[in-house]
Amino acid sequence: MSAPALWSIRAMVAAMHAHGEEPLPDSVGGISIDSRTLTPGDAFFAIAGDNRDGHAFVESALKAGAGVAVVAASKRDTLPNNAPLIVVEDVLEGLRDLARAARARLNGKVIAVTGSVGKTSTKEALRLVLDREGKTHASAASYNNHWGVPLSLARCPGDARFAIFELGMNHAGEIAPLSQLVRPDIAIITTVAPVHLEYFKSVDDIADAKAEIFEGLMPGGTVILNCDIPQFKRMADRAQEARVGRVVSFGESEGADARLIKCMLQPDSTTVQAHILGEEVTYKLGAPGKHLAMNSLAVLAAAKIAGADLALSALALAGLQPASGRGTRSTLELPGGSALLIDESYNANPVSMRAAIALLGQAQPGALGRRIAVLGDMLELGDQSAALHRDLAGPLVEHGIDLVFCSGPEMRNLYDALPSNRRGGYASQSSALEPQVLEAVSDGDAIMIKGSFGSKMAPIVKALQRKYAPRAATNGAAMQG
Ligand SMILES: Nc1ncnc2c1ncn2[C@@H]1O[C@H](COP(=O)(O)OP(=O)(O)OP(=O)(O)O)[C@@H](O)[C@H]1O
Ligand SMILES: [Mg+2]
Repeated sequence: MSAPALWSIRAMVAAMHAHGEEPLPDSVGGISIDSRTLTPGDAFFAIAGDNRDGHAFVESALKAGAGVAVVAASKRDTLPNNAPLIVVEDVLEGLRDLARAARARLNGKVIAVTGSVGKTSTKEALRLVLDREGKTHASAASYNNHWGVPLSLARCPGDARFAIFELGMNHAGEIAPLSQLVRPDIAIITTVAPVHLEYFKSVDDIADAKAEIFEGLMPGGTVILNCDIPQFKRMADRAQEARVGRVVSFGESEGADARLIKCMLQPDSTTVQAHILGEEVTYKLGAPGKHLAMNSLAVLAAAKIAGADLALSALALAGLQPASGRGTRSTLELPGGSALLIDESYNANPVSMRAAIALLGQAQPGALGRRIAVLGDMLELGDQSAALHRDLAGPLVEHGIDLVFCSGPEMRNLYDALPSNRRGGYASQSSALEPQVLEAVSDGDAIMIKGSFGSKMAPIVKALQRKYAPRAATNGAAMQG
């Protein structure tokens, strides 16, 4: 049995103003841009990635079972005859056309999520909550850029009741076209923070770039904004200017429409009491950390506005798991005992770094154990980088982190600012820090590892897991992210 049809070939050809070359199937079951991961029956779009052009992989995609390949007219001559092809002027533009057709056929509620951090965490929490309510589609991983968003939208089944898309950016002007493609009924801005500062003059400018999401909002649509940050009023003003239907605020601040009343932080979960748009709810989050509690306010507000049952949505959050590399836990088996490993290696910026330090502060080490942070550089922070690294010394001390290992030239600023009894070790590169960390862990320790993706902290996680083969601990089952 083939997968249920996602698109008929006729609809694809019409949406993309293309022409098809026989032999063509009637329909495709999915959309792929990677010949290594495609499912037989998918349409393969030969888009140009950062390094390679997808046209080089058309033959392997067809061999792997692609039902059809979508290719550029200019490359047609380089491809085999008698192959199932859809020929377009430009493949990425074709994908965008198909995404527009996907949006046009959709009757379900569409939610778009942007923000400086917490997009994937919020999107996955929404998926968890809405999936129990009705057929739900969501972007895979962090597919939030100029190809990830159209791909995610084109993959949306026509009968989805809810569709959730992550929108990301590094520069001004990137969110508006993505939002105009997705045309959300509800748009969430999780938070605004000094991230990608290399490309922006100020955090206000970042807020304006996030506020571009209003430009694609459906008439009468709702925007959900964090009211605990200084840029709230600025964003709410932009929303008024864009004539959005409704502004909903979330946070701890007095008067928030989705307001945190109480938050009890436990080592592996959090209990939250909140007011969501006039209703009081108490619920458990299956993963720890106050930052996830804050995200959950936006999630529940969006779910309620999208027509989901609030009490059942809140209940579903007990099943929340951290996304991969964003707080995933495992237990390391050491010769004389065990240690808790918290994998935050996916990425880092000053906000998520602070959230992860607080998370480690909540962890309960064993009798002889220590709280150990292993930190790599936060990248792309421009002129303020040294200060933003140094400023982490305060939170580390405040949250009772006993020992800090650092790698990278930016982290040198932090290492030198730490009280000497908290310095665990320093190396200019993560590969040189690795043996020091492997050597240091002992029974009862709780170890959190974090840094920007480019700082290569994930190999330290892998090395620990290789040496001290882990058992999955609480929240060990990672979601895709
Ligand atoms: N509201 C929040 N405040 C601070 N940190 C958060 C928040 N939500 C999630 N985080 C943490 O930030 C990190 C990145 O989270 P997530 O992947 O959800 O962000 P993202 O915005 O999707 O990132 P990217 O831009 O890389 O796609 C994780 O360590 C996560 O635990
Ligand atoms: Mg993401």
